[in-house]
This record gives sequence, structure tokens and C-alpha cells, in this order.
Amino acid sequence: MTDEPLPIYLDHNATTPLLPEVVDAMLPYLQRHFGNPSSSHPYGREARAGVEHAREQVAGLLGCQPHEVFFTSGGTEANNLAIRGVTEAVARRRHVVTTTIEHPATANPCRYLEAHGWRVDYVGVDASCRVRLDELGSRLGGETALVTVIHANNETGTLQPIEELAALVHRHGAYLHADAAQSVGKVAVNVDALGVDLLSIAGHKLNAPKGVGALYVRRGTPIQPFTRGAGHERGLRPGTENVASIVGLGVACESVATKLAARTAHLLSLRDQLWHLLTTAIPGVKRNGHDTEQLPNTLSVRFPRVRGTALLDATPEVAASTGSACHEGHESASSVLLAMGLGAEEALETVRLSVGTVTTREEIERAGAALVNAWRVVSRAGDA
Ligand SMILES: Cc1ncc(COP(=O)(O)O)c(C=O)c1O
Repeated sequence: MTDEPLPIYLDHNATTPLLPEVVDAMLPYLQRHFGNPSSSHPYGREARAGVEHAREQVAGLLGCQPHEVFFTSGGTEANNLAIRGVTEAVARRRHVVTTTIEHPATANPCRYLEAHGWRVDYVGVDASCRVRLDELGSRLGGETALVTVIHANNETGTLQPIEELAALVHRHGAYLHADAAQSVGKVAVNVDALGVDLLSIAGHKLNAPKGVGALYVRRGTPIQPFTRGAGHERGLRPGTENVASIVGLGVACESVATKLAARTAHLLSLRDQLWHLLTTAIPGVKRNGHDTEQLPNTLSVRFPRVRGTALLDATPEVAASTGSACHEGHESASSVLLAMGLGAEEALETVRLSVGTVTTREEIERAGAALVNAWRVVSRAGDA
């Protein structure tokens, strides 16, 4: 640990800091109310009350019933539970449809199914990162058990037309799961408005702790547990509840529910301020993603003639992500950006800048100036 000043944090799609009210609400459950929620004595009853209150808060944000909310260890587990749980429960249908721009927490359970006898279709996206609805519709049939689609892509921020998908999917008697890890907390997410049967959320993307999340399961949706143990979470997710983190997730959800319009407006104004700073100073700078169907906090930016990694290395004032993955020293372009039709070089020019509720206008001012300066230096070095 170091006390050195930290860079300006523009990586809120990777994770977010805890809200002060989230920390305040959690502390008693790490201390006095440490009980096991399954115990019948007062220690257990306090912990149980905390978990059930949080379930109501999560349900309040998503517009569902509390008994339709199942706590998990995060977005990854929620996606696995949805995908593995539904396909196992409706085993007579052996077909799953997903997209080419999913987070590994969806793509890898789908590959697992493929390796175990399911047929999986991976539907492509257009240049704005929106799924090709016609293509998706053409893949559905009487064999389809589940369609699983990311609501907002973590790299580009593009939102998918989940409502339209729901109508298509249900016409074929299949179930629809949306991975809403990135959208909850940034845009309105209501399970009835979206028409989903299952929906995943991840605490640490909305100012709650890491290692906690939830799966919404519409009443009547067939689903099996994929880990076996005691009867927690009505048998669907065995394991003693992570009480303090669940309490934190509940408070974060309530905070979003009461302040969403202000949150969204704040994120939008910062994102637009940053984009303005970049476009006025960098000729040829481009944005990946959709113009309007887009998270308010995410800028996936192509900086002309420089590698995203080189640009961020030259910008120690800013903490952000690139559109690449590094394997054994070799940089490879993001599969999401390639799926949108970008060339490998264009994808490698990409930097993901994601603002958050705690970001200030002054930070954006400084971050914008630092990125512009670094771009000038790095692109000149490349030109020389
Ligand atoms: C879209 C999406 N889904 C799922 C996850 C996984 O969530 P968790 O980190 O809570 O397992 C993430 C996290 O990066 C994500 O961005």
C-alpha cells in the first residue's frame, strides 16, 4: 500500500468505490450482527432481517417480488446459475442462443454447454455493437431452451434491444436471460419493462462490494441449482449468506432507485464534457458504440495512430482500460471490437473511459488535458 496520490479513476466499468452509506450499513453486520441467518436465536434473526431487507431493496429497484431475487457471489455466478440452471431444468430442449459480444461470464458457460452436447448459436452484432435481431430470430426454434444476452456491453456501453428480444424469444417458448451487470445503476432496469425471465446484477458495478450479486428469476421459470449443499436461497444457491455484502448491495440498490435520474444526468454530463475535450483537440478521434442506445458513463474511444496501451502508459494521471487483452506479452485486440467489424489495428487504438458517480468536473478537465497531451507526444513519436 502506498500513500502516493492516485490517478484520476475513469474505470468505473471495471469496478466502483463503495458509497459511504453502503459502508455505514455494512459495518454492524461485520461486528454486532455477525450471526448466521439460518440460526434461530437473536444473532441469527438480526442477520436474517438484514438479508431479507436487502432482498426487498433489490426487488424494489428491479420492479420484482423479493422472492424472485437470489443472492450470489457476483455477476459471474449469477450468469452461470441462469445458464446452467435453466438448461439443466429444461433438458429436453438442447439449444441455446447468445451473442458474439458477451462477457466471459456468459461466453464460457455457453462454451461449457457446447462441450457437453448442447447446440449453441453465437449471433453477431452490427457496427454499433447492437445484436442482429433478424439473425437472432432466425436461429430460434422449438429446441431453444434459453437466450442469453448482455444488456449493456462492458467495453462499448451499447444497450441491447432486450424488450424486442423478449417478444421473439417467448414466441418460441424459450426463456430470456439478460446480463445487466453493467446497466443496473446507470439506466433504468425493470424486469417487466424488459420482459426478461432472468437477470443478473453485480454489486461492485453499482457502488456495493465485490463478491456479491443477485439473480432475478421470474416466478415459474424452471431452474436447478448448479452447486449442491444446504437449503439456502430456497435451495437454489446453497452456502451461508455473505450478510454484510448483501446488506451493502441492498443499500446501493435503494440509492440507485431513489436517485437514478440525477445519477444518469451526472454521468452523461461528465461523459459529454470529456468527449468534447477530446474531439476539440484530437483530429480524427472516434467513438465505438451506438449514438443513443448507450450507457451514460462509457466512452470507448479510438485515438488515431496510437496504441491504447501506449497512450495509457504515457498518461499516469489517468486510470482506465484498453480494448485489448495481453497474453504472455502479446497484445491481442478485443473480441467485442472485432465482432463489431473493427480491424485489429483500430481495436488496439481503443481506450475505455468510464466515469462514475464520484467523478467530478474538475477531474474530467484534468484527465482530458492529460490524455490530449499524451496523445500528442505518442502520436508524434509514431510519426517520426
Ligand atoms: C457484463 C458483465 N457481466 C458479468 C461480470 C462479472 O461480474 P463479477 O465480477 O461480479 O463476477 C462483469 C464484470 O466485469 C461484467 O462487466
